[in-house]
Amino acid sequence: MTKPLIIANWKLNMTQKQSSEFIKDFAEKVKASQNQVDIILSAPFTSLETVVKALTNNGLEKVTVASQNVSEHESGAFTGEINTEMLKEIGVQAVIVGHSERREIFNETNETIKSKSKKVLDSNLKLIFCCGESLETREKDETDKWIETQIRSAFNDLDFSKVENDQIVIAYEPIWAIGTGKTCDSIEANRVIQNIKDLIKNIFPASLANSTRVLYGGSVKPSTIEEQMAQTAIDGALVGGASLKANDFADIVNFSTKAVLNA
Ligand code: 13P
Repeated sequence: MTKPLIIANWKLNMTQKQSSEFIKDFAEKVKASQNQVDIILSAPFTSLETVVKALTNNGLEKVTVASQNVSEHESGAFTGEINTEMLKEIGVQAVIVGHSERREIFNETNETIKSKSKKVLDSNLKLIFCCGESLETREKDETDKWIETQIRSAFNDLDFSKVENDQIVIAYEPIWAIGTGKTCDSIEANRVIQNIKDLIKNIFPASLANSTRVLYGGSVKPSTIEEQMAQTAIDGALVGGASLKANDFADIVNFSTKAVLNA
């Protein structure tokens, strides 16, 4: 049985003060389930260090922290950028790359995402790689082809020799389901995720493919998570809006373990 992985993506929300308050409340509610589920909190840059410290101070040492972005560059004249060393220095262990908001709003191309993914892996950080189609692509019946292109362009010629098992997580996030309240039907999400798992078997070394968890993201809520986690291929969730309230996010975490234990 694969251990569920639930990731909060706070996006452009959560000051240091709000992050600390969140973790205090959240800790009370998830301490008991900490061992049955992996949890990652993805905070804005300025709150990352606060989150790392608050987790330790509140007995949530097993919860890890992710950045929502990173530079593909090592160092130098790149005004406004943050590199992987800076993240590691403050205790960050993972980075989200390829989120549709970065692709669409900040014009990140498959090429940029490939460079960032490589940088994250070379830096021994966990890569949370996002993919997903627009409504237009889905209506043209090109979802599977689109996702295959996104995944192949990042990983086809990557040198996997130093990549650890479980170092890559893939999140399938259909763009039309993000922040819209329209959740992708669980059976369809499961179908796409199973396709992703079959595809990476052709690209990744076998042990890495088998240990790569594939998550669903897009309007995940406490009321949807049990059904999503009950699907055969879905290993967890990447949660936006519903991760901003400690209560809701704790319910998602706790329900995710319940669904798996009942499976
Ligand atoms: P919502 O859960 O708000 O739809 O956001 C999903 C998402 O983009 C997580 O990365």
